[in-house]
Amino acid sequence: MEATEFTVELVRKVDDSYPVVVGRGLEKKIVEVAGRGALADRRIALITDSTVEGLISAAIAREFAAAGRPIEVIAFPAGEINKTRATKEWIEDQLIARGFGRDTLIIAAGGGVVTDVVGFVAATFTRGVPYISYVTTLLAAADAAVGGKTAVDTPAATNLIGAFHQPRAVLIDVDRWHTLSPAQIQDGMGETIKHGCLADSEFFEVLEDAFVRRGLSPKDFVDDDDLTSLTARRNCEIKRDFVSSDVFEGNRRMGLNLGHTIGRALEAAMGYTMSHGQCVAVGTALQMRLGERFGYCSAEDVERFEALAGAIGLPYRLPDSVSVEAIMAAMAHDKKGVAGTIRFVFQKGIGDLMVFEGGAYARPVDTQLIREFLAEQSRG
Ligand SMILES: NC(=O)c1ccc[n+]([C@@H]2O[C@H](COP(=O)([O-])OP(=O)(O)OC[C@H]3O[C@@H](n4cnc5c(N)ncnc54)[C@H](O)[C@@H]3O)[C@@H](O)[C@H]2O)c1
Ligand SMILES: [Zn+2]
Repeated sequence: MEATEFTVELVRKVDDSYPVVVGRGLEKKIVEVAGRGALADRRIALITDSTVEGLISAAIAREFAAAGRPIEVIAFPAGEINKTRATKEWIEDQLIARGFGRDTLIIAAGGGVVTDVVGFVAATFTRGVPYISYVTTLLAAADAAVGGKTAVDTPAATNLIGAFHQPRAVLIDVDRWHTLSPAQIQDGMGETIKHGCLADSEFFEVLEDAFVRRGLSPKDFVDDDDLTSLTARRNCEIKRDFVSSDVFEGNRRMGLNLGHTIGRALEAAMGYTMSHGQCVAVGTALQMRLGERFGYCSAEDVERFEALAGAIGLPYRLPDSVSVEAIMAAMAHDKKGVAGTIRFVFQKGIGDLMVFEGGAYARPVDTQLIREFLAEQSRG
């Protein structure tokens, strides 16, 4: 018999657009958003972590009950250490035991760990159910909330197993930032000032005015309505602009990795004892210093960045305790592309990115040059 072949025609047109709501006291707003269109008929599971559960789940459950739509709450132990396949499985078993099926609507309430693992549950539960993210940390508002990347960690690497699954809506409740520690605010500001560096000089100036000139503390910042809503909004808008033009990270989305080549390597070399936001601040500063040599930004730009990072309480130099070789090893582990080089994203002054030959948002830099540069930097 001769083999036959036919095509399953499956050209897909997708519209994954979704609203991002920034405000205070958004518990009622979730009820409204969860009632939109076909979401209205679904059974709701609010999935969160043990810390956020104590802060917010009762208030959200009350609002839903008042609207005649009772919800179930599922909470897993807080922390990055629980962003695992085991947690995903445990959540799935909880959903199954409580009789949830294809008509489920998930609300992921929490920081980036919750939106990552719960978004991944939503991506695969009965082959995919819709979810809404109710975002409670500045770091997640700055980065994890928009983009549709969901994942869990494995011992081999972070975020190794996951899926692209876009939320139906993102709610950023700035009121939730009141219970964040100053260190958590600083952590989120690491990604925030990175966004100013790569896309918005005016936003950078507003932050300079607040932290450098007016000397705002993290607590003053959280109390400042204008500044917090601008911060939440600009972070998400900038991320949206990069993501919507390049959902699967072909090129432009890589621009968001500014400061992350050295930042992530530093995080690994320090054995994850320094927060991601701190490492990104150092990585962004070093990328600027290296970029200054190539003529991409000026000494004054570098000084402005360091003054802002310093005023926020973020580091901008390599810690004494880290070895250059450990950073180089971590970068080599991470790298893609031409042998003997590492690809870097560079900012152009403050508020823009360098675009290289062929429209590339990253360029290779010679490994030996990076090693010498880092050795100089670690000598102060
Ligand atoms: N998907 C993406 O594109 C993306 C982007 C950036 C980061 N991430 C992920 O995000 C995670 C880091 O985000 P995170 O810092 O929000 O993590 P997180 O969710 O673990 O939150 C940090 C801690 O704060 C607690 N918390 C949350 N909200 C709080 C509140 N309002 N008040 C007090 N405590 C609160 C949490 O319970 C947790 O203990 C990482 O896993 C990272 O990989 C994902
Ligand atoms: Zn980051």
